[in-house]
Amino acid sequence: MSLNHESVLLSESLQYLNIKPSGIYVDGTLGGAGHTSAIAQQLGEEGLIIGIDRDEVAIQEASKKMKGLNLSCRYEIIHDEFANIKHILNELSEPLVDGILLDLGVSSFQLDEGSRGFSYMQNASLDMRMDQRQSFNASDVVNQYSEEKLHQIIKEYGEEKWAKRVASFIVESRQRAPVETSFELVEIIKNAIPAKARREGPHPAKRTFQAIRMEVNQELQQIKSLLMTAIDHLKPGGRLCVISFHSLEDRMVKSAYKEFQKDCVCPVEFPECKCQQKQQIKIITRKPIVSGEGELAHNPRARSAKLRVAEKI
Ligand SMILES: C[S@@+](CC[C@H](N)C(=O)[O-])C[C@H]1O[C@@H](n2cnc3c(N)ncnc32)[C@H](O)[C@@H]1O
Repeated sequence: MSLNHESVLLSESLQYLNIKPSGIYVDGTLGGAGHTSAIAQQLGEEGLIIGIDRDEVAIQEASKKMKGLNLSCRYEIIHDEFANIKHILNELSEPLVDGILLDLGVSSFQLDEGSRGFSYMQNASLDMRMDQRQSFNASDVVNQYSEEKLHQIIKEYGEEKWAKRVASFIVESRQRAPVETSFELVEIIKNAIPAKARREGPHPAKRTFQAIRMEVNQELQQIKSLLMTAIDHLKPGGRLCVISFHSLEDRMVKSAYKEFQKDCVCPVEFPECKCQQKQQIKIITRKPIVSGEGELAHNPRARSAKLRVAEKI
């Protein structure tokens, strides 16, 4: 299988990472190695790129791609989740790096590979795991979660207006028999959403599938953990670049950057600082960087991409 994933905001990421030929960079979302290989090509013999992915297929295909390039730099490919960055960098004896990139969400190859169950366009058993070593999958969410919990994730992660009905239709259906396939789930969602609403906007199952995928892979929790540790692993002047596709992800990145940029937060009437908080980063992008018209014209995935960059001080 080839990974025909088209990298989003590629030149912008390279520019904002401020790549130094001898620098050390981490791509926490290796995928098809699009960003990783482009970073690697700007590195010299001293440079190192570390690519992390929790998907075994991405690891295999990205390794092949990197081997096929005539690179002068060193590279490491790590099968793990990016939330483990601290452990990964310590194991590599490279605790401090010059830049960290995240290009969140799923790859085209994960969506295109029907058997993975990510797509509402292809019939497969309910799976949606990015990491095949994990046992918890989409079937567990759909068949085990309480109606209330289903409602909450479909509403919050999927931003689905009809979340309450979708959750209730899922529960009603699974009382008759477990929901086993993506097409069964699509049918339930279609029945839950009134015909008029179904005719407007994207595929009616898109939002619910996204919500279940985010829950199965604990995507927001992963980002939160990464944001809590990444800054500690940047050298002064090192940059954190995060490309997100979901408003909750973007909000999380934006507010973490704001928090890390704050210096003392003591009330003004305090004669001296008691909070000990020190500014750790400088926000480089006041507004998120979005794709230009050229990219938007040929890469539909770019439509919701937002890149936010911070620099360690
Ligand atoms: C959008 S793709 C990255 C594409 C890549 N930038 C490229 O240009 O080829 C996202 C990748 O990140 C991986 N991923 C998502 N969340 C992850 C996590 N928490 N830890 C490690 N890998 C993750 C997915 O498995 C997927 O392969």
